Amino acid sequence: IHTVIFDESEEASISVAAEIGELIREKAKLSQKAVIGLATGSTPKGVYNELIRLHREEGLSFKNVVTFNLDEYYPMTPDSLQSYVRFMNDHLFDHIDIEKENIHIPDGTLDPVEIQAYCERYEYKIEELGGLDIQILGIGRTGHVGFNEPGSQINSRTRLITLDHITRIDAASDFFGEDFVPRKAITMGVGTIMNADRVILMAWGEGKAEIVKRTVEGEISDTVPATFLQKHPNASIIIDKAAGEELV
Ligand code: F6R
Repeated sequence: IHTVIFDESEEASISVAAEIGELIREKAKLSQKAVIGLATGSTPKGVYNELIRLHREEGLSFKNVVTFNLDEYYPMTPDSLQSYVRFMNDHLFDHIDIEKENIHIPDGTLDPVEIQAYCERYEYKIEELGGLDIQILGIGRTGHVGFNEPGSQINSRTRLITLDHITRIDAASDFFGEDFVPRKAITMGVGTIMNADRVILMAWGEGKAEIVKRTVEGEISDTVPATFLQKHPNASIIIDKAAGEELV
């Protein structure tokens, strides 16, 4: 995994958005779709702000863009404060010209018996479009990417998972208490992410420094699922100084 350290997360986010913008423009020239894997949480907000600016001020169109979000809590209704549907609308989709039918976010309202077939269809839709051109990621303190918690295998696919206790503690403030954080989520698998042509993992701030060190320098193992990205042929970890302070 290629490591890039910026002084500040703002400039790092601008460079990630620039790469995504370039991909979208290149694909548009070829009359092709750009297939982009998206993350939620605090980490990608700067990237989404910059993509909105590129749309408003520099004419970047998202008409040829198809998106697949990594994950959604389960159960979760789209109109809930904490839903990733709502997050994506608020932070990106409501501000750009993407076609609604090109947006995919795992459905937190499914009946339990429907989940497996739904997850298989999610994978199939990505494959049908020729796979993800780029996947952007944040990282949790457990070393999860998407919601692939410790124990997730390198070949895992989109599925229902149980959230790690630490992840639920980290989400507690969003839900006004840990007891209200869902115990499960639907997430793309590590294998789904590994199949993307390009992967960009971002991390900001000293709170991520330890897990960044384990991700970049640690042994490849399912105890830190992000370490599997060491095996990806075109993955970068883009961090700010604070997140990189424990790297040797
Ligand atoms: C969100 C996701 C998670 C987050 C991670 C970091 O879609 O897949 O893996 O990227 O939990 O969250 P933040 O960015 O809030 O620190």
